[in-house]
Amino acid sequence: MSDLSPNRGKKVKTKWLVSLAAALIFAAGLAATQSSTYIGSKKCSLCHKNENLGGQYRIWESTKHSKSLVSLSSPAAAEPAEAMSVAYPTEDPKCLYCHGPLFDKAPDFITEGVNCEVCHGPGSGYAKLSIMKNREEAAKNGLILYGPQDKIKALCLACHDNPHGKPFDFAAAWETMKHPLPKK
Ligand code: HEC
Ligand code: HEC
Ligand code: HEC
Ligand code: HEC
Repeated sequence: MSDLSPNRGKKVKTKWLVSLAAALIFAAGLAATQSSTYIGSKKCSLCHKNENLGGQYRIWESTKHSKSLVSLSSPAAAEPAEAMSVAYPTEDPKCLYCHGPLFDKAPDFITEGVNCEVCHGPGSGYAKLSIMKNREEAAKNGLILYGPQDKIKALCLACHDNPHGKPFDFAAAWETMKHPLPKK
């Protein structure tokens, strides 16, 4: 259904600001780890493709997060691009902000879309076995974990707060992408 009312642009703008507010919360979490650098999800895969550890890399690859940049060059991009007055989705921060979130911080990994480090923080400091095995050390070296469900949900909403007029069912969405360590 198309909305042709004169307020259309305004509505989109308000939604955008709400998303932006959520995003700032999200960015604040990442700011604490500024001194670490991004190493890319291939590095995480060295250990996290291991099924005994939970196969996190396989799970992530099977989600749309790993293909979010590609979507910007698909025919389906035309409609949201028009709605947000964007001429070149693959180059415009207005789209990259969610679909290629490393576009400014680590352009080498932009093609990985919403990769591990977008959510868990840049990995140069923590992605060593000796550090990873100790949760406290990992956190000190930049690993971001979320804990309670409402914190996880806040992370999701930084990008999923209705960007294209589609509702977001947090519980169902989390079910399709969760990737826990095996129970000890
Ligand atoms: C050298 C192997 C290795 C690499 C590389 C590695 N990890 Fe890990 N990671 C592990 C192991 C092993 C554990 C489980 C530790 C445990 O059982 O306490 C783990 C645990 C984790 C956890 C859960 C921590 C907790 O205490 O709940 C997260 C999140 C994580 N890794 C993310 C990443 C990300 C993101 C990358 C890439 C930037 C990465 N890891 C790279 C081996 C690795
Ligand atoms: C605030 C975050 C955000 C922004 C900004 C954003 N998107 Fe999205 N986009 C999403 C999310 C989340 C989804 C998946 C769920 C949904 O459709 O709401 C999605 C889905 C899509 C899809 C559908 C992919 C598929 O295969 O079904 C396309 C195409 C798309 N976006 C293009 C764009 C374009 C083009 C722009 C810029 C004009 C843009 N998006 C800006 C978050 C965003
Ligand atoms: C969209 C955000 C997002 C992405 C992308 C993502 N994760 Fe996670 N990951 C989370 C959240 C949220 C949790 C839940 C645990 C927590 O942080 O509280 C989690 C949990 C984990 C855990 C298990 C922690 C435990 O104690 O059971 C591991 C290991 C992990 N992630 C590794 C990875 C790796 C490796 C990748 C990339 C291949 C990845 N994650 C991609 C958000 C993400
Ligand atoms: C940095 C932005 C960002 C964050 C944070 C994020 N997502 Fe996404 N997510 C996206 C984008 C962009 C897409 C659309 C990918 C595409 O199809 O192009 C998407 C797609 C999805 C999809 C597939 C939707 C569909 O229509 O098939 C699920 C499920 C999902 N996300 C769950 C989550 C959950 C759960 C969280 C929180 C733990 C989360 N996401 C956090 C950006 C994000």
